[in-house]
Amino acid sequence: MDAIRILGGVPLTGEITIGGAKNAALPLMAATLLTDQPLTLINMPELVDITTMSNLLRQHGARIDQSALAPGSVEAGPTGRSMTLTTDKVTSVTAPYDLVRRMRAGFFVLGPLLARTGEAKVSLPGGCAIGTRGVDLHLKALETLGAKITVKEGYVYATVTGGRFKGANVTFPKVTVGGTENLLMAAVLADGDTTLENAAREPEIGNLAECLNAMGAKITGIGSGTLKITGVKTLHGARVAVIPDRIETGTYAIAAAITRGRIVLKGTRYELLEAVFDSMRRAGVSVEVTSDGIVVSAQGQLTGVDMATEPYPGFPTDLQAQWMALMATASGAGMIAETIFENRFMHVPELRRMGADVNVHGASAIVRGPSKLSGAPVMATDLRASSSLILAGLAADGETLVNRIYHLDRGYERLEEKLGACGARIERIVGH
Ligand code: EPZ
Repeated sequence: MDAIRILGGVPLTGEITIGGAKNAALPLMAATLLTDQPLTLINMPELVDITTMSNLLRQHGARIDQSALAPGSVEAGPTGRSMTLTTDKVTSVTAPYDLVRRMRAGFFVLGPLLARTGEAKVSLPGGCAIGTRGVDLHLKALETLGAKITVKEGYVYATVTGGRFKGANVTFPKVTVGGTENLLMAAVLADGDTTLENAAREPEIGNLAECLNAMGAKITGIGSGTLKITGVKTLHGARVAVIPDRIETGTYAIAAAITRGRIVLKGTRYELLEAVFDSMRRAGVSVEVTSDGIVVSAQGQLTGVDMATEPYPGFPTDLQAQWMALMATASGAGMIAETIFENRFMHVPELRRMGADVNVHGASAIVRGPSKLSGAPVMATDLRASSSLILAGLAADGETLVNRIYHLDRGYERLEEKLGACGARIERIVGH
């Protein structure tokens, strides 16, 4: 297993180009199952999760061609990578355990498989380190549109009577990003109109809805909590850009702040992350939008700030762990309330081993600072916890060795290279 070694204490300065959003790209890829025509996605990130999703879609019958073009070109977006997915025919309606267990996003094939073929057998994704993460809300909503569902032996068996969903009104009892995405992909090919109330408003949902519209779907209310979908008979191909990764953006913004450096974030957008930039400003970090990119810089003492994770447009849960690392270096107390996942503080014991003063009380944590962080061997437990340990390591004195970084490779492309270009002393140790 690979590890990452960091010699901390260097203020980072330079530029980082942000990649396409993992959590937008994954559902966009699943949309190939809705049409027999080619779907081209530009500004694709290069991540292990994208490879896992490609393997899953291939076994459903998708052909996938990837190309590398000039980074920054109009044809390919800032990352320079594009992918064309074509599913002439769905050759299997089974999404096997071995692929779905690796990545919860594999469950996104359920809605489109049912919409295109009227049947599906999809492995339950199971729990994961950050919480129980059920799929009850996805299933209940699909049933409202006419799916007959049974769950046995770890699989969801679903059929749609008559082969086509019937439009219906769905009110989600709780905001669910994946549930909203699965339902959008189900409803676009339904007979009649569907309304999704209390839908998630994350920018990744907007990206998917715009993509579906480019494929011939009729979705209105994009960006709001009420999505209205008028079903159409068929969808066609399209060419769509993946939005910039707001979690990668926030992680590198925090890298600038935690090392008291200055990083220009390119290929990304301020409005994707307003809540985080607001909190950073309140902590004393400078955030400026320039024609060159978003310039994040900090010097001297920062101040502890309270925050609670919330569905978009609130502070994203996927940046909570990284924010905690920053708060450890700020003066005073910062309260962190985690309202989305019930077990997302696994980074706390590891940050404490590096010298952070954090106390967890149920779903809240108090971080008292400033702490002088010191390097230590630490263990990554999930994707975002891993990046918070990297950030703490960048700010710490001495050497930090982050073990089990396969989690990081699921969601951050060329992390060592991007941070190294800003002066970080960071290296991957292969097979540690
Ligand atoms: C998406 O997960 C993201 N993943 C997560 O990013 C992100 O943390 C999360 O949204 C919240 O923003 C992808 O987009 C691939 P939810 P998702 O359904 O869709 C509960 C990362 O690090 N719930 O909005 O699974 C659930 O347990 C990952 O990149 C049910 O109870 O999140 C959670 O408490 C981690 N039943 C809450 O709702 C359901 O059927 C929100 O989950 C569905 C969800």
